[in-house]
Amino acid sequence: MRPRRFMPTGALKGRIRVPGDKSISHRSIMLGALAVGETHVTGLLEGEDVLATAAAMRAMGASVERLDTGEWVINGVGVGALLQPEAPLDMGNSGTSTRLLMGLVASHPITATFTGDASLSKRPMGRVIDPLTTMGASFEASEGGRLPLILKGASPAVPITYRLPVASAQVKSAILLAGLNTPGITTVIEPVPTRDHSERMLRGFGAELTVETDAEGARAISIRGEAELKPQVIEVPGDPSSAAFFIVAALIVPGSEVMIENVGLNPTRAGIVEVLRLMGGSIEEVNPREVGGEPVADLLVRHSALKGIEVDPDIVPSMVDEFPALFVAAAMAQGVTVTSGLDELRVKESDRIAVMAAALTAAGARIEEREDGLVITGTAGAPLPGTQQAIATHLDHRIAMSMAIAGLASQAGVEVDDTRPIATSFPLFETMLDGLGQEGPAA
Ligand code: S3P
Repeated sequence: MRPRRFMPTGALKGRIRVPGDKSISHRSIMLGALAVGETHVTGLLEGEDVLATAAAMRAMGASVERLDTGEWVINGVGVGALLQPEAPLDMGNSGTSTRLLMGLVASHPITATFTGDASLSKRPMGRVIDPLTTMGASFEASEGGRLPLILKGASPAVPITYRLPVASAQVKSAILLAGLNTPGITTVIEPVPTRDHSERMLRGFGAELTVETDAEGARAISIRGEAELKPQVIEVPGDPSSAAFFIVAALIVPGSEVMIENVGLNPTRAGIVEVLRLMGGSIEEVNPREVGGEPVADLLVRHSALKGIEVDPDIVPSMVDEFPALFVAAAMAQGVTVTSGLDELRVKESDRIAVMAAALTAAGARIEEREDGLVITGTAGAPLPGTQQAIATHLDHRIAMSMAIAGLASQAGVEVDDTRPIATSFPLFETMLDGLGQEGPAA
């Protein structure tokens, strides 16, 4: 455990550049490892989750190396040519690595064992086991469809058409990645759009992929299997999910003005910016451009008087990882913020509804927990009292970072029981935060 008390700070001022997008980083390594030839990646997130993906792809035959310049070079084995890993694949804390790699292994003639930490071993894998079983893969999973599990891939796998029962980009991606080495056409139907990085990148690598949207807005994504992927040069844009902590920090700490550079603003990810603006947040987009086929801008964020709102549940998939940060903003807004439709938050790295309710309550916020969301009555800008005892973060990086931010705008500070999980997605978070708050505590 590495505890830390995050103390109240003066105005946050300056410029930061958030690390590469986690979702895009995972996918660039996986697809690079399946292309024949050399893929070059810059801006890769070097967090523990992505390093787990890199280690797994190496264990299955690809070469994945970091040059001294910071660029990553991946030499792929070709679709269909993944090797059987000799040892269990240790997925650490990473649900994305686990579920997407299960998709890849499912249509290769290999057997792999997946293991993970205590948090990952509690998370449901049935959502990928079910469709991948229909495609021909077989599983020996721990009770309740959890890790550790053994997956025996099918060769050839059987193409399926699958309608997602939960809005999940991980499940969608697992099936599309399995479809890469499956003869014929594999189709995933998603009733609600989720992050579309897999679709964009599969196309970029040369896979034949079509998307049809019906009158209700459901998307049918089809991929032609036995694809040949061509190596790419990829620049990974900054992660909006990491930016979210600094956006909220600048909004709630009086006098702050922070420029956050290189933030990915793919519409399937940018819900947090829209919701914070609806709450009255001043977030200006500067220098909009494209990086790696994704919309990107620098965000100029100024301290703002926030007001509570009712968050439309339709926006949830485009900000599914940003609710812990949003809850902190809501705790300091004027009036009541109501969130709903957040059932999926209960099966993230921790139960983020229950854990954030307990954490914010301990810091002195007014929280009502409901089955599918939180109702938060804000302080109208007044600092939260802060915590006596350490907040339990339950191996969840986003709980640790959200409560760190809450500490900046508190009276007594907020103590987090363990900051180590932050390294799964944002190793430089504390360094960047300390750099922005150098003006010292508020008078
Ligand atoms: C991710 C999808 C989301 C998100 C996770 C990353 C991805 O999970 O929470 O952090 O890269 O596809 P779900 O698809 O399970 O909602």
